[in-house]
Amino acid sequence: MFITGANRGLGYELTRRFIASGHVVWGAGRPGRTERLEGLAPAGVVAMDLADESSIVGGMARLAAGVDGLDLLVNCAGVDARAFAGVDAARGPFDLDAAAFTGVSVINATGPMVVTRQARDLLRRGRSPLVLNVSSQLGSMEVAASIGSDTAYCVSKAALNMLSVKTAQALRPEGIAVVMIHPGWVSTDMGGPSASLTPEQSAAAIHETVAGLTLADSGRFIRWDGQDHPW
Ligand SMILES: NC(=O)c1ccc[n+]([C@@H]2O[C@H](COP(=O)([O-])OP(=O)(O)OC[C@H]3O[C@@H](n4cnc5c(N)ncnc54)[C@H](OP(=O)(O)O)[C@@H]3O)[C@@H](O)[C@H]2O)c1
Repeated sequence: MFITGANRGLGYELTRRFIASGHVVWGAGRPGRTERLEGLAPAGVVAMDLADESSIVGGMARLAAGVDGLDLLVNCAGVDARAFAGVDAARGPFDLDAAAFTGVSVINATGPMVVTRQARDLLRRGRSPLVLNVSSQLGSMEVAASIGSDTAYCVSKAALNMLSVKTAQALRPEGIAVVMIHPGWVSTDMGGPSASLTPEQSAAAIHETVAGLTLADSGRFIRWDGQDHPW
């Protein structure tokens, strides 16, 4: 399996948990930022920057050279507006900085789509292959109608959801499932210390949920515990 954003946060914890349960796990981190991931001794480490399509293509080629197929791809890496210098996460619709808006959307929405595109041949050779796109409750129209102060983040996750639905449609005939998951509010650097779930709790629940997903679930938007998430 292959997990992006594996050097810290939820991606790190998912990588740790799947390795501990005996899976062959490759992890991805940004170039020059894979040290913690390497400490987990995964089967392989790929350095790639989701903001840069050629970096993704190169990274996925290195993965393809090292594995025969992929059963699970977890697109976990993600950012909010704070990733863009000088931009606070609280950005209303009329405060949007176009560069930050585009930057967040490229990393959160088109990035996972490019990773999945480049993983397509590997997934075709996987057993019951699944793409798990880590979305957010803030990508839900219903939920974001009342919470979420970072408009770029909300829009990027809504875009990821639509790209996931379209990817699910495209990959279903090939037997590849695509599922969107809200991991809960998790106490990572992004979620902050007040969050309701620890990375360990979220990763444990996702680990269990993933085991029960099949092609019949493709196109669903679910929570960490496998329950349907409102759109
Ligand atoms: N935490 C929450 O409450 C929460 C709630 C809903 C959804 N989510 C989603 O869950 C996922 C994981 O979030 P998290 O809470 O673990 O956040 P986090 O602790 O901030 O970690 C983000 C991860 O994404 C990676 N990343 C950022 N920019 C990247 C880029 N340009 N290229 C490649 N990797 C990049 C980071 O790598 P570096 O170490 O190199 O920066 C890091 O590994 C995200 O998709 C997030 O939107 C989180």
